[in-house]
Amino acid sequence: MTDLLRAENLCKSFGSIKAVNQASITVPAGSITGLIGPNGAGKTTFFNLLSNFIVPDRGQVLFNGQPIHKLPPHRIARLGMVRTFQVAKALSRLSVLENMLLGAQDQTGEKMWQAWMPQVAKDQKLLKEKAMTILTDIGMDHKAADFAGGLSGGQRKLLEMGRALMSDPKLILLDEPAAGVNPRLIDDICGHIQRWRKDGMSFLVIEHNMDVIMSLCDRVWVLAEGSNLVDGPPTKVQNDPQVLEAYLGS
Ligand SMILES: Nc1ncnc2c1ncn2[C@@H]1O[C@H](COP(=O)(O)OP(=O)(O)O)[C@@H](O)[C@H]1O
Ligand SMILES: [Mg+2]
Repeated sequence: MTDLLRAENLCKSFGSIKAVNQASITVPAGSITGLIGPNGAGKTTFFNLLSNFIVPDRGQVLFNGQPIHKLPPHRIARLGMVRTFQVAKALSRLSVLENMLLGAQDQTGEKMWQAWMPQVAKDQKLLKEKAMTILTDIGMDHKAADFAGGLSGGQRKLLEMGRALMSDPKLILLDEPAAGVNPRLIDDICGHIQRWRKDGMSFLVIEHNMDVIMSLCDRVWVLAEGSNLVDGPPTKVQNDPQVLEAYLGS
């Protein structure tokens, strides 16, 4: 498999805290790759560096071989890499459908401002249809008109994934997709991820729920204190004494 995403020696300090310290990762095309580590290990900061929500002090990020660490997040999204957030950011006073359409905004750019033009109206109709198809796919079509603010934690996570799909990504970065989600919905979310992977999408997943990591991931990378600790197949990583020690020590 070729590397879809490759991050090399990323560094980011906040004052005297080295949140990410020479961390690297590769995500092969077609894979579900895991990123784990104790609280405060630097996982979320690492995600922010990958998608340039935070500018790295050092290091580089290659997507499909192209350097992206100097591109703004919306350009990175257009290349095919999108992310979700640890705390799902659904806009609560917009409807579920309107939240979905926000995920497509980068594709249409300023055309969204000119909704009176016939071609734009047609584009918007197509986008709405696409949004409804995705909502149906994730079992949320019946919620389309509801305020996102009324959704449960798990439904917000689903909505965020649905919104990510609106831009036809090649790679989705998921920050704790199972956190605060009830067990049945966790199974649903894992099922969707596996299905989308079969359709050709790739994933990088931060997750504390080890059952989720074990059932989803081909390979797992462990961060501790901002640096790479070990990486390998999930069963190997789970039983690695260094990993157990890092978790117990935290
Ligand atoms: N914006 C920030 N300002 C200052 N310190 C931060 C900031 N973001 C993260 N940190 C610190 O960086 C370290 C890594 O945090 P984070 O990336 O959130 O870890 P994780 O997601 O693995 O729990 C922690 O010590 C955290 O307190
Ligand atoms: Mg985090």
